[in-house]
Amino acid sequence: MAAVTSAPQPPVVLVLNGANLNLLGTREPGVYGAATLADVEQLCRAEAERLGVTVDLRQTNHEGELLDWIHEAGRRHAAGEVLGVVLNPGAWTHTSIALRDAISGTGVPVIECHISNVHAREPFRHHSHVSAVARGIVVGFGVHGYPLALAGLVTVQRTG
Ligand code: DQA
Repeated sequence: MAAVTSAPQPPVVLVLNGANLNLLGTREPGVYGAATLADVEQLCRAEAERLGVTVDLRQTNHEGELLDWIHEAGRRHAAGEVLGVVLNPGAWTHTSIALRDAISGTGVPVIECHISNVHAREPFRHHSHVSAVARGIVVGFGVHGYPLALAGLVTVQRTG
């Protein structure tokens, strides 16, 4: 009997979005632009196809759920299934030590991504709890930052 072989699955990148990012498209368009989260997903899928990875894009307004997803990403990264995470935590960037601890505690590679240039905005947006434990940071390219972050993650994970 012929051996059953299954094709290797492409690595997965989780694209995780935090508080209020479901409002993209209508939320402060002067700051965040007119693109919706569905548009972001399309941009990421096109780039993922080019890179030979699969994306799993999610958004939550519940901090604990985001922590659970980071833990899941950490487990699946250890299992060789998940390459890493592109993460836009929204305002939790500036408030959540728990989020920083989840990233450092799981060791999952994270690219921090912000649509706006947070450093050109209010002083409370200048500090990120995530940056010190992120593998890289993409800031201020609008929604085009997501595919840039995805390409950056794949490049550093493949080439070191
Ligand atoms: C943001 C910047 C944060 O300061 C803000 O709270 C957000 C969006 C960005 O993508 O530019 O919700 O992360």
